[in-house]
Amino acid sequence: MTMTLFSKIILKLVCSMMLIAPFFVSGQTDQHRRGLKDYYKGYFPVGVAVTPRQLADSAQKNFILKHFNSLTAENAMKMAPIHPKENSFFWTDADAIVNFAQQYKLKLRGHTLCWHNQTPRWMFYDQAGNLVSKEVLLQRLKAHIYAVVGRYKGKVYAWDVVNEAVADEPDRMFRNSLWYQICGEDYIFKAFQYAHEADPKAILFYNDYNTEYPRKREHIYQLLKKMRDAGIPVHAVGLQAHWSITNPSKQELESTIMRYASLGIKIQITELDVSIYAKDSDSASGFTPEREQQQAAQYLSIFKAFREHRKQIHGVTFWNLSDRYSWLDNFPVRGRKNYPLLFDAELQPKKAYWEVVNF
Ligand code: GLA
Repeated sequence: MTMTLFSKIILKLVCSMMLIAPFFVSGQTDQHRRGLKDYYKGYFPVGVAVTPRQLADSAQKNFILKHFNSLTAENAMKMAPIHPKENSFFWTDADAIVNFAQQYKLKLRGHTLCWHNQTPRWMFYDQAGNLVSKEVLLQRLKAHIYAVVGRYKGKVYAWDVVNEAVADEPDRMFRNSLWYQICGEDYIFKAFQYAHEADPKAILFYNDYNTEYPRKREHIYQLLKKMRDAGIPVHAVGLQAHWSITNPSKQELESTIMRYASLGIKIQITELDVSIYAKDSDSASGFTPEREQQQAAQYLSIFKAFREHRKQIHGVTFWNLSDRYSWLDNFPVRGRKNYPLLFDAELQPKKAYWEVVNF
């Protein structure tokens, strides 16, 4: 029996109704179903710094799974929390994050193996309270890196091996940390060597902030070049990206990306937030409509640059989930509430979010 034209049209209509019906039923539009990571699928993974408590809370867990496909432990893998005493490790928190990433097939960045902050005192001192020798310190660094990288081998795909070793002062190359005072620059090279030995497949990062300031950018460039020329296994640079509504300009950001990319290394944005205060001295007048607008414009500008440089940018990670909590609530001014992320305290998208996903 042949179908009449009329019944064919009716059949088509019914079929297409059936296809779109679920969205009407759930009241969801495409905009609501897609998360940040989905908009950036063809570009780079979108990550977020987390605590184990957030992963255990069902609302935050669902929010994370909707918007992000990569995680970084905000604190759990840092040296002081994970290696509180020479012969004792605290794995519980880091394990929880690793297990979550495995369960939901999320990428996981390791952060961080060697830093001047959040490092336990025992690392630098002997039992009599004197600073240890270079030999002892490097031995301890090696034991730490072997234990942590070894435990998560194959589960953590990238490590921030050395964090913030370059100085802020324009006339100084290296930060004058205890690492540097005891070992000179060798601790940096050794850290990369140990991490590579512990997991030869991991992508190894040097990670720092203010990477767009010309002098510091150049110092970091020189350090990376020296390591590359010497065959030290540094594969990538992490731009922390603790930025603000006025900094950096698109042009400053692009020059930074191209400068580091010229070394033939990968780049990731590792700790992104955009402070609503242009200066440390700005008074705490809160999230005004003007600042909201400036922040949306700044997010638009930096994500445009990321998209245009998708060949160089291999990942973008936000530092904290939403404006409910950010480390910037207490830095650099104690108690000055900040609103640096794409989601508000109720985990709802802000104006800046829509700028970032509308392209
Ligand atoms: C640095 C570190 C991060 C984090 C932030 C502030 O950028 O790399 O781990 O501690 O400071 O929270």
